Amino acid sequence: MSTPDPKTVPIRDLLPDYREQLPEVAARFARIRERPVILSIRGLEKSYGHGDARTVVLDRLSFEVRRREFLSVVGPSGCGKSTLIRIIAGLDEATGGEVLLDGQRVEGPGPDRGMVFQGYTLFPWLTVKGNVMFGLKLRGKSKKAADREAFQWLDLVNLEEFADAYPHELSGGMKQRVAIARALANEPRILIMDEPFGALDAQTRAQMQSYLLQIWKSVDVTILFITHDLEEAAYLSDRVLVMGANPGRIVELIENPVPRPRRREQFISRPFLSLKRRLAELIHADGAAEELKLPLTMRPCAEDSVE
Ligand SMILES: Nc1ncnc2c1ncn2[C@@H]1O[C@H](COP(=O)(O)OP(=O)(O)OP(=O)(O)O)[C@@H](O)[C@H]1O
Ligand SMILES: [Mg+2]
Repeated sequence: MSTPDPKTVPIRDLLPDYREQLPEVAARFARIRERPVILSIRGLEKSYGHGDARTVVLDRLSFEVRRREFLSVVGPSGCGKSTLIRIIAGLDEATGGEVLLDGQRVEGPGPDRGMVFQGYTLFPWLTVKGNVMFGLKLRGKSKKAADREAFQWLDLVNLEEFADAYPHELSGGMKQRVAIARALANEPRILIMDEPFGALDAQTRAQMQSYLLQIWKSVDVTILFITHDLEEAAYLSDRVLVMGANPGRIVELIENPVPRPRRREQFISRPFLSLKRRLAELIHADGAAEELKLPLTMRPCAEDSVE
C-alpha cells in the first residue's frame, strides 16, 4: 500500500489521541492526584416538578476536585452548568446527593466559596476599593486591616491605581478583575466562575485568560470554571468536565494533554487541537450544534442566490 501524501491527509488524521500524554503532563497529573480532595460531588441530583411533570436537570453527578486544580465545565446550553455551581455555592438546593467541601457537607452559602459571574456584579455605589473591602468588613476585619488587604488584592489584579474609581468608570475587563479581587479577598477554598469572560470582546477575553492563569499561580485557590468556549477550557484547565443535556449529566472528564506553562502559541499545537477536536465531537454529538432551520419562505430576490 502506498503512503498517503501528507499534503492531502486531513489535519484531524495527523492529530494524536487526546488521551496521549507527554511524560511531563503525565507526571503533573500524578502529582495532582496526590493532593487532597477539596470538593466532592456525590450522586448530585436536581429535578423540578413531580410525577409526569418531573424534569430532571442534573442526573446523579459525581466527581472530585483536588486542591489547586483548575477544572473547567463545558456543555450545551441548558445542560445544568449554572444549576450545578449554584448548588455548590449553596444558592440552590439539590433534590438528591451531596456536595462536600473539605469533607463538610454544604448546606448554604459561605465565604469558603468565592463567586464570579458573567454579568458585572460589583456594587455600583461603592468604589473599587469599597467593593473589595466589603467582604473583609463583613468578616469582622478592622477598617485599617481591610484597607491594607484590599490594596494587596488590587495590586494582584493590577488595579491599585483605580482604588478610588467607581465601577461605571471601568472597562468590562477591569470590572471583572475587581470582581476576581473581591472574591479572592475572602480567601475562599474554591473560586467558582460562571462564564466570567463571556461578555468581553475577544482581545480583552484573551488578556483576562492570561491574567487568571497568573493569579491562579500566585494564590492558593482551586478553580471551577464554566465556559462555552472550548479553546478557553483547553487553554486554562487541568481537567475538563464535559456535560450532556436532557438530563444534565457527565459525559466525560478529560485530563488536558496540553503541557504547562500555557502559551497562546499552543493553540495550534497537536495536544491542544486533539483536545479541542474531542470536546467539539462530544458537544456536537449532543445536538448542540445542529443547524437551526428557520421556517422562512423565499422572498422574491432580483439577483442571484447568496450561496
Ligand atoms: N425553576 C425551574 N423550573 C424548571 N426548570 C428549570 C428551572 N430553573 C432552571 N430550569 C432548567 O434547568 C436547566 C438547566 O439550566 P442552567 O441554567 O443550569 O443551564 P446552563 O447549562 O447553565 O445553560 P447556559 O449554558 O445557557 O447558561 C434548563 O433546561 C432550565 O430550563
Ligand atoms: Mg449557565
